[in-house]
Amino acid sequence: MQKKRILSGMRPTGKLHLGNYVGALENWIKLQDQYESFHLIADYHMLTTGLDTSHIKQNTIDMVIDWLAAGLDPEKSPFFRQSKIKEHTELFLLLSMLISTARLERNPTLKDQVRDLNIESLVYGHLGYPVLQAADIMLYKGEAVPVGEDQIPHVEITREIARKFNLQYGEVFPEPESLLTKFARLPGLDGIAKMSKSLNNAIFLSDGPEVVKAKMKKAVTDPLKVRKGDPGRPEICAVFMYHEKFSPAEEVSEVETGCRSGALGCVDCKLKAANRINQMLEPILEKRKHYEANLDTVNDILIDGEKRGRAVAEKTMSEVHEKMLLG
Ligand code: TRP
Ligand code: SF4
Repeated sequence: MQKKRILSGMRPTGKLHLGNYVGALENWIKLQDQYESFHLIADYHMLTTGLDTSHIKQNTIDMVIDWLAAGLDPEKSPFFRQSKIKEHTELFLLLSMLISTARLERNPTLKDQVRDLNIESLVYGHLGYPVLQAADIMLYKGEAVPVGEDQIPHVEITREIARKFNLQYGEVFPEPESLLTKFARLPGLDGIAKMSKSLNNAIFLSDGPEVVKAKMKKAVTDPLKVRKGDPGRPEICAVFMYHEKFSPAEEVSEVETGCRSGALGCVDCKLKAANRINQMLEPILEKRKHYEANLDTVNDILIDGEKRGRAVAEKTMSEVHEKMLLG
């Protein structure tokens, strides 16, 4: 049977952290065998929230190295930059005629961004963020899109646009489904918000063992557990979430019991978590070193992925032109 097609995308924000890994990358790596996958680097989307483009190139390389080091296989699934395949721009323009501004203004992800980033005056391109994302997905006829919760509204908008196109011009596009990533949110080291680069509460896939230990030492835990002997509440502690994610089941239950009784101190508990994280990161760091020393290979991987992506995109666009009776 023909494998279903998925389109996964990330904005190139630079080196990835454990939250990105757990919330997306880990899942992509699993999915690459079950599906025919395409991996998009959404560099144009970066412009919706900032005009400074000086870091995009380096951030792209850093992110792609993390993809490769973590186990995403470019042979199975091409990697490509949005800005290198012109069809993204072209389909974006056509799709922008198929949705109302009122619908885009209702997008809850946009509302959250406007609030969180204190945006006073929204640029036109930011309003169109989901339309560009719809073009990303539809160009490859994506049938499913792995996403975190915040991206579900964008996939919903994609479905509406695909439906509208098909009704108006004839069947070209599947209506893609969201594949929700289960363990979507990993808390940051500050224990409050989710892990995020800008909040400075992240452990990166590129952090060495000493860095991980030092960061973990400063992690915020249950404030009522001041010293060893005090009983703690694992359910409100970020370090416990890390154990749940990265430690084997026996250790998780030992930690839970020890924390509640007070027998386990936070210093030891953090060290255990740091060790598990370091174990997980060790092979990733090894591979990262290899790619850092072979940047030409990374570049070639993008060029090759873009060639393969472009072939699919061109084919879709010629179908679009045909259905739309354009020239
Ligand atoms: N909006 C996505 C995010 O911020 C990135 C993205 C752009 C994307 N185009 C996409 C994700 C297409 C999936 C499919 O995470
Ligand atoms: Fe958190 Fe571990 Fe301390 Fe309990 S013992 S509060 S789980 S760091």
